[in-house]
Amino acid sequence: MLPVLLLLLLSQPASSSSVQATTRTFRNRTDGDALLELKASLSNHQGQGVLDAWNTTSDFCRWPGVSCSLKHKDRVTVLNLSSEGLAGTITPSIGNLTFLKVLNLSRNSLGGEIPSSTGRLSRLRYLDLSKNSLHGAMHADLKNCTSLKGINLGSNRLTGEIQSWLGGLPSLRAITLQKNNFTGIIPLSLTNLSSLYRIECSWNQLEGTIPEGLGRLGSLAFVAFDLNRLSGTVPSTFFNHSSLIGLSLAVNELHGTLPSDFGNSLPNLQYLLLDANHFTGSIPASLANSTMLYFVDISFNNFAGRVPPEIGKLCPHMLSLSTNQLKATSAEGWQFMTHLTNCTRLRYLDLQGNMLGGVLPSSVANLSAHLEILYLGFNEITGTIPQGITELVGLSLLQLSNNRFTGELPGSIGRLNLLEALWFENNRLKGSLPFSLGNLTRLASLYAEGNNFEGRLPTSLGSLQEITTANFSNNMFTGPLPIFPDKRPGFVR
Ligand SMILES: *[C@@H]1O[C@H](CO)[C@@H](O)[C@H](O)[C@H]1NC(C)=O
Ligand SMILES: *[C@@H]1O[C@H](CO)[C@@H](O)[C@H](O)[C@H]1NC(C)=O
Ligand SMILES: *[C@@H]1O[C@H](CO)[C@@H](O)[C@H](O)[C@H]1NC(C)=O
Ligand SMILES: *[C@@H]1O[C@H](CO)[C@@H](O)[C@H](O)[C@H]1NC(C)=O
Ligand SMILES: *[C@@H]1O[C@H](CO)[C@@H](O)[C@H](O)[C@H]1NC(C)=O
Ligand SMILES: *[C@@H]1O[C@H](CO)[C@@H](O)[C@H](O)[C@H]1NC(C)=O
Ligand SMILES: *[C@@H]1O[C@H](CO)[C@@H](O)[C@H](O)[C@H]1NC(C)=O
Ligand SMILES: *[C@@H]1O[C@H](CO)[C@@H](O)[C@H](O)[C@H]1NC(C)=O
Ligand SMILES: *[C@@H]1O[C@H](CO)[C@@H](O)[C@H](O)[C@H]1NC(C)=O
Ligand SMILES: *[C@@H]1O[C@H](CO)[C@@H](O)[C@H](O)[C@H]1NC(C)=O
Ligand SMILES: *[C@@H]1O[C@H](CO)[C@@H](O)[C@H](O)[C@H]1NC(C)=O
Ligand SMILES: *[C@@H]1O[C@H](CO)[C@@H](O)[C@H](O)[C@H]1NC(C)=O
Repeated sequence: MLPVLLLLLLSQPASSSSVQATTRTFRNRTDGDALLELKASLSNHQGQGVLDAWNTTSDFCRWPGVSCSLKHKDRVTVLNLSSEGLAGTITPSIGNLTFLKVLNLSRNSLGGEIPSSTGRLSRLRYLDLSKNSLHGAMHADLKNCTSLKGINLGSNRLTGEIQSWLGGLPSLRAITLQKNNFTGIIPLSLTNLSSLYRIECSWNQLEGTIPEGLGRLGSLAFVAFDLNRLSGTVPSTFFNHSSLIGLSLAVNELHGTLPSDFGNSLPNLQYLLLDANHFTGSIPASLANSTMLYFVDISFNNFAGRVPPEIGKLCPHMLSLSTNQLKATSAEGWQFMTHLTNCTRLRYLDLQGNMLGGVLPSSVANLSAHLEILYLGFNEITGTIPQGITELVGLSLLQLSNNRFTGELPGSIGRLNLLEALWFENNRLKGSLPFSLGNLTRLASLYAEGNNFEGRLPTSLGSLQEITTANFSNNMFTGPLPIFPDKRPGFVR
């Protein structure tokens, strides 16, 4: 401090402009000091880093990552050190930057706790500390940050409860707390946040029920509580919420049914992820009125009954109905598939693990040629595999396993030359394996076991350069194993 004062005293007679400059840099350094103290507790584990330029020979308002107020001289309003490879801890001096509006330290390797002095930042609008290794609880003093619009503490190691005072921050629009170890319940107070647009608390250990009032918040668009331990039913308020865009409640202990008018009041819904819960009842046909749906995953529940044909009028990118008790006994039960053929956007269709029986409709051939993943296994499908299935030239995975398919594998299977996995084990297929299998040069995994195939394995199999797993057991094959390439399968039986 002394040399600085001396320098200032000595510089008095100098021109006023140089005094100005000196003053800006040295005399009133409140925010600069706070930044230097922060710098001292940070390190850049990639060596050269942004903090090297944080030195007293330059005006701290020009330091990279720092922006100052135009109105209030030398007061820092934005501190953005996102993705700078920083380790270390956040010092309490952060609380001295009382003009901060944006604090973004996300995507670093910061440890320690969030200092309670952060609560002094009453002008702070956006706090983004996501993707670090912060631990400890959300300090109660943070409730003084009454200007907060967005708080993102996702992907850290935070513990304790989601604090109910969050519900008292009147401007909050986004709460992102995913991938931490928060426990306890979803505080009721959050239902007071009339501007709330986004709440994402996935991957924590939250318990209890979803507050009904949340579903009444008119601006709410994104709700994610997947991978917690929530129980009870989904409040009906969520099913009558026209602004909702994403509803992600997968992997919880939720139960109940979807109301028959489910999709009629959700015109903007794009994501519906309810997988791995205990939902029952049938899939409401009205879902088809949520015409924006892009991802639909209701797998691993207890949905039963017929898949409503209307579902096929949706055009999602991903549709997973797997591992439920959905039934088809005749062509009627497969109507949805015929409707789906209008959907060129479809990339992922998972119907495995249900009770879909009867014959696979030949309309399967008319599904999008861009379809990449098709799971039909572990159902009760009878009859032959429609020849046309080899029109689905975009497929990288085709699973027909554990059904009751009869007849032969289509000879044109070699057309599906993007396939990496082809599984048709445990059916009643017969005849010989088609020579064209050798065209599937990307194939890594081939399951043919448990059928009635006979004859020699086609020598063309030897050209499957990528194969790592192939199983031909429990058939009636004769003759030698094909010679696989040298990089050798891990497992050929
Ligand atoms: C330091 O800056 C603050 C805020 O701009 C101001 O109120 C204060 O007067 C300054 N102090 C000195 C000694 O310049
Ligand atoms: C932060 O503010 C406190 C209280 O105003 C003060 O005592 C401390 O010196 C400041 N720290 C820095 C690094 O500016
Ligand atoms: C201080 O930072 C400036 C850039 O802001 C840089 O040019 C200079 O080399 C740095 N000085 C030292 C001593 O690191
Ligand atoms: C913050 O820094 C990151 C990385 O340099 C940059 O991508 C981002 O645009 C910055 N954000 C703001 C608000 O300046
Ligand atoms: C923080 O910076 C990252 C870029 O690294 C950006 O994606 C994110 O939106 C920023 N957060 C805020 C609140 O501006
Ligand atoms: C937060 O506000 C309370 C009451 O207004 C006050 O006692 C406390 O010191 C404040 N905390 C911080 C960190 O400013
Ligand atoms: C959460 O806590 C469990 C043990 O209580 C631990 O195994 C896990 O790694 C923690 N997760 C995070 C993100 O810190
Ligand atoms: C919501 O806010 C009102 C008014 O500030 C308050 O009386 C009420 O207790 C709050 N509700 C919850 C659940 O916190
Ligand atoms: C749906 O919401 C509207 C207004 O948003 C309300 O008038 C109506 O009663 C609600 N219906 C149900 C079934 O909750
Ligand atoms: C879809 O919405 C239309 C118009 O509101 C309605 O007539 C129709 O019954 C709805 N479909 C289903 C299956 O509920
Ligand atoms: C495909 O869409 C057209 C035009 O919207 C419609 O007329 C036709 O019935 C649809 N086909 C199926 C199978 O749903
Ligand atoms: C397999 O590849 C050969 C040579 O590229 C081609 O002539 C043949 O038509 C292909 N067979 C099938 C079924 O696609």
